[in-house]
Amino acid sequence: MQVKPLIKDNTFLRHFWHPVATVQELEQSSADGLGPMAVRLLNENLVVANLNGEYVAMRDRCPHRSAKLSDGSVHGAEIQCPYHGWRYGADGACKHIPALPEGPIPSKAKVEKFACQEKYGLLWVRLDCSFDCTEIPHFSVAGDTKFKTIVHEPYWWKTSAARRWENFTDFSHFAFVHPKTLFDPNAAQPPLVPMDRVNGQFRFVYDTPRGMDVAKISVIGKFSYTCSMPFAINLSSEKYSDGTTSVLFNVSCPVSDTETKNFLLFAREKHDDSDWPHIAFNNLVFDEDQPVIEGESPQYIPDDEVSVVTDKVSTQYRKWLRELETAALEGKEAFKRALHTRVIESDRTYD
Ligand code: FES
Ligand SMILES: [Fe+2]
Repeated sequence: MQVKPLIKDNTFLRHFWHPVATVQELEQSSADGLGPMAVRLLNENLVVANLNGEYVAMRDRCPHRSAKLSDGSVHGAEIQCPYHGWRYGADGACKHIPALPEGPIPSKAKVEKFACQEKYGLLWVRLDCSFDCTEIPHFSVAGDTKFKTIVHEPYWWKTSAARRWENFTDFSHFAFVHPKTLFDPNAAQPPLVPMDRVNGQFRFVYDTPRGMDVAKISVIGKFSYTCSMPFAINLSSEKYSDGTTSVLFNVSCPVSDTETKNFLLFAREKHDDSDWPHIAFNNLVFDEDQPVIEGESPQYIPDDEVSVVTDKVSTQYRKWLRELETAALEGKEAFKRALHTRVIESDRTYD
């Protein structure tokens, strides 16, 4: 039996910025470090490239005979198709047809291009800029010289981006999926945290229980979440034991309804010890999550799951996703309102 999805229409996701590749991936995708490189976002095949210092994203399909531009090559400010060598500029328009050097170039010889930006060492794409009211997600320690940041290699999970988001922010799974690594198996009852909506972000704080019997490297302390909708999580953890702060910035790219490419930035206050034990620990925690999350069926969020009050974070998240879905169908102003109207439950103050 096919279970109905909670979100019926995913087109609202096209209005957000999503990461599609690390800059390093693009640099390693070709000998000259410029691309082109194939990526996939919301079921669309795209090509990204560095054209004379400008990062561009276009549909990965040549208008001539539909070859993949990502199999072609970069020549200065142009991408050359691998099949007959037509060349396209950063605006997507064809600039040169080798078989017809004097022209004319048909006006339809144009590849659809999409907004593309580099930030935090990641390449971000927004498929639909018509509402123009979304920003690249907030990474709390970007440019902060007190912190050293590592951009992880992306990791792929066979699940939807919303499922990955819910897993990352799910307090009641810690005791079961991460006993003794991240959490104490006896601490199964999470608190009901106040959740604020500010600037298109969910903000909430979880003071994890003190004195838990967990791995020494585990970052048990005050967890502050700033989650830019729809798929970014900035988790700043202040460790009880020594007061140091570390930040996990996890953003899932919705490759398709059943596949995510996940990007992770890991930042710690300047330190003398090696990063590797900490990276290995993050990987261990994710390895504990992955089989459980990939086993959830269906991979999208269905409309028939049973929730209890302690599932507050995910039920509130689902509520907001649905509001954004509905508002996007009504138009720009409704979408802006749904994304930016403040809802404050906590006693925290915001600018
Ligand atoms: S298919 Fe691209 S140039 Fe012919
Ligand atoms: Fe987990």
